[in-house]
This record gives sequence, C-alpha cells and structure tokens, in this order.
Amino acid sequence: MDIEAIKINIGTEIQDLASLEALEELRVKYLGRKGVLAELTGSIPGLPVEARAAFGQSVNALKNKITLLIEEKKKLLAAPAAGGSAERVDIGMPGIVHEPGRLHPLTQVTREICAIFTRMGFSIIEGPEIETEFNNFTGLNIPLEHPSREAFDTFYLKADHRAPTTDHLLLRSHTSPVQIRVMKEKKPPLAVVVPGRVYRPDAVDASHSFMFHQIEGFIVDKNIRFSDLKGILEFFAKQVFGQDILMRFRPHFFPFTEPSAEVDISCVICKAKGCSACGRKGWIEILGSGMIHPNVFKHVGYDPKKYSGFAFGMGVERIAMLKYGINDIRLFYENDLRFLKQF
Ligand code: PHE
Repeated sequence: MDIEAIKINIGTEIQDLASLEALEELRVKYLGRKGVLAELTGSIPGLPVEARAAFGQSVNALKNKITLLIEEKKKLLAAPAAGGSAERVDIGMPGIVHEPGRLHPLTQVTREICAIFTRMGFSIIEGPEIETEFNNFTGLNIPLEHPSREAFDTFYLKADHRAPTTDHLLLRSHTSPVQIRVMKEKKPPLAVVVPGRVYRPDAVDASHSFMFHQIEGFIVDKNIRFSDLKGILEFFAKQVFGQDILMRFRPHFFPFTEPSAEVDISCVICKAKGCSACGRKGWIEILGSGMIHPNVFKHVGYDPKKYSGFAFGMGVERIAMLKYGINDIRLFYENDLRFLKQF
C-alpha cells in the first residue's frame, strides 16, 4: 500500500468510525503484527540502499500519526456525553427549564393595597420590627395594666419586662408604633401607609400565626373628620373587593383612637345573606380604625386642639384570604409551589 495514500485518507477513515470495536479493528489492520505498517517495514530490505533510510522515516512518522489519531478517537468514543460528533448529542433530552419567578401573594396584595393609597396621595413609610415599649404601647395611650402588654400577648426581648421601666425592647405587636415614629419626626399634614410584619405569641392554627403582616394608615391635618375616614376606607374596600360590596362601621374600642370603629364588609361569598364563611353573620371584619386620640398627639408634641386625624390598621393575610378564598393562613408560610404558583 502507498504511504501517501494512507496519509491522506487515514484521518477521515478514523473519523467515520462509530464504535470502539471498529476502532480496534482499524488498529489491528494498520498497526497489528501482520498489519499494513509491518508489511511496509518488511519491504525495506528490498529497496535500493539509498532509499531505505528515508522510507523508514516515513513509515515511522505514519505510525506515530495513526497511533495519535486512534488515541484521540478512543477518548471521544469513550465519553459520548461530551459530544464529539453531532450524532452523539441527544436532542430528545429535555433542556434546563428556567421558570420565571413571581411575587409572593402577600407581597402582591401588600403592593396592591399600598398602591390604592398612594394614588390618593399617601406616602409609604416603614418602621423596625424591634420596637420600644414606648412606641408600641405608652405613646399609643395603652396603659401599663393593659392586657396586651402581658408577655402572653407580646414577645419581649428580655424576660424581666415587668421591671420598673417602660422602655423594654419587644417585637412590635402591630404597625401602630410607626404612627409615633413618623409624628415625632414630621409635622402635619401627614398621609402615610405603613406595611410590615408584626408578632404575637399566638398558637398557630388555620387563622392565627405568631407572625403576620399589617398595613397601618393615618392622616393628620387641620379639620380631619370621621367622614374623611369613612370615605377613604369605603373607596379602598370597593377597589379591593368590588363596587357592589356593602360596608359598615361598628363601634369598638382602641386606646389610641376615639371614637373607634371596626369596619366590616358584606360577605363576598353570600352577599350579606349569611353563610358558613361569615359564620352566618353576613358580615366580615376587615380592619380597625378611629380618630387619633388626643393623648397620642400629646405624646408626640402635637397640639390636639389644632390638629385632628384618623388611623386604621388591617391584616394583609386576612384581606388576601378573603380576596382569594384561602381558608388556612399557614399556606402563606409553607412555600409550597403548588400553592404559590396560583398567584
Ligand atoms: N393596631 C390595631 C390592631 O392591631 C389596629 C388599629 C390601627 C386600630 C389603627 C385603630 C387604628 O388591632
């Protein structure tokens, strides 16, 4: 066989092989004891003396080249996933799917609610989750003996919260302390919404969690009246639950508002007729509200004769549960994708 012809064709010949067995056959054919190259070497003694050395070198060079090509091909065939030739790429294999992320339903509802208020001119302000006893209670006109100050209703950072000082640190039990922070820092007119986490040592069940989310809102200015509170909350509730819901203000008590009211909407499921979702009452409570108590203004250095204001606070989980018909608060915190993907 002609050395030049082998040199030219050996590359493609090896490239076309599809298995290790075929490669081994080729190796035997060229490099084996009775192979092509052995035959070429064996023909050297028959050559003219001057030609022998050059011929011998060519045969050696060819032998090295074939050995190298076989080694390379062997690696490719042995590691098919690395893909040397196009045929070995599995085009039927599913690719890596990058699913777009999305916002948690509580984040979505929080943003939706805040947007309703910012469209009416409210600013969004956040406060810390670790609060002072003053901001969480005292400044809000909540007296020392009030049950909500007990350790079974509030998480204190130190166990000796009954020591004779009122400025222990705690995990805020509502977003109302941000009223104190904002009013201490700014002068009226104010229109603010405060989204954030709050904490209460409640046993976890379908409607309670030791941590949940609230949105506080308040306005302070001259001549703010209860009718302003009613108008704004009615606008808000209709934006969230639809124009045809009914709303009612039920007298209530909060130490930091006077008068105070709890706000109910007509049951979104039975339309105020009474069903199991609303406990046959036809109404569902959605928030607490009232006119800011003069004592709160005194604590922050506002003149209660000059200014008036209203405040309200709602639970985000509650609004989201009503809006989407969710019956267990724990679903929000379990991070089960089957739940989260629905929003
Ligand atoms: N802070 C109250 C609560 O957590 C809600 C509230 C806020 C009531 C503002 C009146 C005014 O229950």
